[in-house]
Amino acid sequence: MKAIRIHNYGGPETLKYEDAPRPKPQAGEVLIRVHAAGVNPIDWKVREGEMKDFWPHKFPLILGWDLSGVVEKLGRGVSRFKIGDEVYGLPDPTRGGAYADFIAARESEFSLKPKSLHHIRAGAVPLAALTAWQSLFDTGQLQPDQRVLIHAGSGGVGHFAVQLAKWKGAYVFATASTKNQDLLRKLGVDEPIDYTQQRFEDVARNIDIVLDTIGGDTQERSWSVLKKGGVLVSLVQPPSEEKAKELGVRAAIIGAQPNGAQLAEIAKIIDSGKLAPIIDRIVPLSEARRAHELSQSGHTRGKIALRVSNPDGTLERKQP
Ligand SMILES: NC(=O)c1ccc[n+]([C@@H]2O[C@H](COP(=O)([O-])OP(=O)(O)OC[C@H]3O[C@@H](n4cnc5c(N)ncnc54)[C@H](OP(=O)(O)O)[C@@H]3O)[C@@H](O)[C@H]2O)c1
Repeated sequence: MKAIRIHNYGGPETLKYEDAPRPKPQAGEVLIRVHAAGVNPIDWKVREGEMKDFWPHKFPLILGWDLSGVVEKLGRGVSRFKIGDEVYGLPDPTRGGAYADFIAARESEFSLKPKSLHHIRAGAVPLAALTAWQSLFDTGQLQPDQRVLIHAGSGGVGHFAVQLAKWKGAYVFATASTKNQDLLRKLGVDEPIDYTQQRFEDVARNIDIVLDTIGGDTQERSWSVLKKGGVLVSLVQPPSEEKAKELGVRAAIIGAQPNGAQLAEIAKIIDSGKLAPIIDRIVPLSEARRAHELSQSGHTRGKIALRVSNPDGTLERKQP
């Protein structure tokens, strides 16, 4: 099969489009023909070696932990899927990934993909949408009418978080630069904040949940907007426990976990028309380097998707 692999840590030039052995599904695993793979910042962070002390990756390594595709083969004991099922999922990021024609992964990490989305759009959903879901609902315990501040509401995680918070009935503040203010409004943000023009703490107050996708100074300044009993959920940097205690709030850092059951819930919301991925760019798998450079610029609008099968894109022009 064809795959994008790295043989050492480094810059975008380490991404090699080459032949690789087709994986075999073990017990409890499915072999999936990948149609599309989502690109996430974790892909280039792994490529640069940022995760090397945490995840036991071996070279050559296939990157990419976000995909939509079709079940090609079943490992022993697989019960949730049959051959030909169209599925999407976030496979275990401590193992090899989805920038390839095929991946073998645990069935528990997948669900049937949303019927209303073509693979290209479905493949951009799992990692970022699960991150938003687990931050707001599992860790944040978001309730209707609560007030939420989402940093980078126009990004991969942020644009799902905004829509999921609105679906739950929350009042949403979100930040982005000037060019993305219209997008924030379109996504349903109640009070869009242009971080290049305003200080978010001058607009957002009495917040129940802050979703910190940025860290550093943004995280530090976020403490002041929380109400007592609120929670600061960070995706990027552990917030200070002492500070949280002092202010009477909670603080957490989360790592998104594979979860097929939650993906099935997310698929239902997508098919009901209440949640949709925004696709910034579709890039062929062989040009993954360009996709990494774009993602690394830090200004992706929604998601970048890699087209793995069907390289000329004829299929998704025919279907929604
Ligand atoms: N812990 C986990 O499990 C987990 C899971 C997923 C992601 N993450 C991490 O979370 C971070 C965000 O991920 P992502 O996929 O959402 O990234 P992304 O799609 O690359 O985010 C890009 C967005 O960030 C916005 N942005 C940039 N600087 C900003 C600022 N100072 N204030 C507000 N918005 C700003 C940009 O808007 P403008 O162009 O308008 O500036 C752009 O739309 C990454 O570091 C990623 O590695 C962690």
